[in-house]
Amino acid sequence: MWGGRFAEGPAAVMREINASIPFDKRLWRQDIAGSRAHVAMLADRGIVSADDAALIADGLARVAAEYEADGVPEDMALEDIHMHVEHRLAELIGPVAGRLHTARSRNDQVATDFRLWVRDAIDAVDEGLAGLQRALVTRAGEHAESVMPGFTHLQSAQPVTLGHHLMAYFEMVHRDRSRFEDARARMNECPLGSAALAGTGFPIDREATAEALGFDRPTDNSLDAVSDRDFALDYLMAAATTAIHLSRLAEEFVLWASQPFGFVKLPDAYSTGSSIMPQKRNPDAAELVRGHAGRIVGAMTALTITMKGLPLAYSKDMQDDKPPVFEAHDLLALSIAAMTGMVETVTFRTDRMRAAAEAGFATATDLADWLVREANIPFREAHHITGAVVRQAEADGVALDALPLATLQAIDSRIDERVFGVLGVDASVAARTSHGGTAPDQVRRRIAEAKAAIGMEDEA
Ligand code: ARG
Repeated sequence: MWGGRFAEGPAAVMREINASIPFDKRLWRQDIAGSRAHVAMLADRGIVSADDAALIADGLARVAAEYEADGVPEDMALEDIHMHVEHRLAELIGPVAGRLHTARSRNDQVATDFRLWVRDAIDAVDEGLAGLQRALVTRAGEHAESVMPGFTHLQSAQPVTLGHHLMAYFEMVHRDRSRFEDARARMNECPLGSAALAGTGFPIDREATAEALGFDRPTDNSLDAVSDRDFALDYLMAAATTAIHLSRLAEEFVLWASQPFGFVKLPDAYSTGSSIMPQKRNPDAAELVRGHAGRIVGAMTALTITMKGLPLAYSKDMQDDKPPVFEAHDLLALSIAAMTGMVETVTFRTDRMRAAAEAGFATATDLADWLVREANIPFREAHHITGAVVRQAEADGVALDALPLATLQAIDSRIDERVFGVLGVDASVAARTSHGGTAPDQVRRRIAEAKAAIGMEDEA
């Protein structure tokens, strides 16, 4: 009674749930590159004739040209990018197209295509992050001596320099780049020739296809090669860590742009206004970078959970590997570009930063250190004396270095006028000369090294 409807219904749903073409068409370049390497190898090994291979290679170039131009029409019944390319090839050159799939399966094909795609994605991210590093190091160089409050618990802690603060992000991005670099080196083995799961009886040359596709070597286990996606997870985990770093910087910009802070004026180009409150300049780009980090971490979680518990070898669940990677990559590329633009063009309000550094009793540690150094007082006792000085300054509503010497000596008679040499914020940062410390000399030294590390001219 319902057979007419039912016979079509499930088939339509099946087509829809089965199809990956709506998203995996992004692999067309890699798919065609893989096929060209494969067919050249088949011809070299005499598995297909030189004439057939030439026809196939020529046809693949035509399919590539079509993708480059308007794309190839999509048909859900053809499932994925691999079948679309092969089907279009057959339309263009006829049944000889069917020889291309000799000694190959979509399982090793997709694993190869996707590795190639992720490798390109890593190269693009690396370029973007290098640009962000250049922006950070440039702005840090401008502000090696600009004093701002350093925070712990978001409470004024000790003065630091803005250059030092910006260079903290340089270091994070440097490690992010090295994580992507590690992932790239690890994934650069070619699955092609693993076939469906067990390898093939055809006398293929896996070294040749690996080399043609820029891989270091072929993978060593066919089951592993078609069924692991750890290379995509490496990418996503590196992306998640990077996104978290970008999100922290974005959060600082949001905070610093807020009126009570007023540490930065974000450029118009990265802000929006409000339709109702004319005074508003909202840090939307920074907020979205912060927000995107959630989606990127979500993508990493998604693929991790997809892979968990899959038996060897290939399972169709793994077709779901691509959307999270594509999404994370697009969001990360945008986030890197937006943060780079903001770092390059933000106006730092160094007067406000300095005033905030001076307001928060941030040189209290310097006073305690001075008592240890100059009056030979144990640090714990010095800490206690300094606490009393801060309480006095707070009660009097003045900065530490505005307290009269007599007031200081009433708290502890061992204090003398030399103490005023360390109570100012400039003296405080200048004193922090330990390796990696915030002293302008240290910051400039690190900036010079950083520029060399990323191949930037040091004109300073
Ligand atoms: N579209 C599939 C994917 O992305 C290709 C591999 C299909 N293999 C298979 N045995 N059905 O995973």
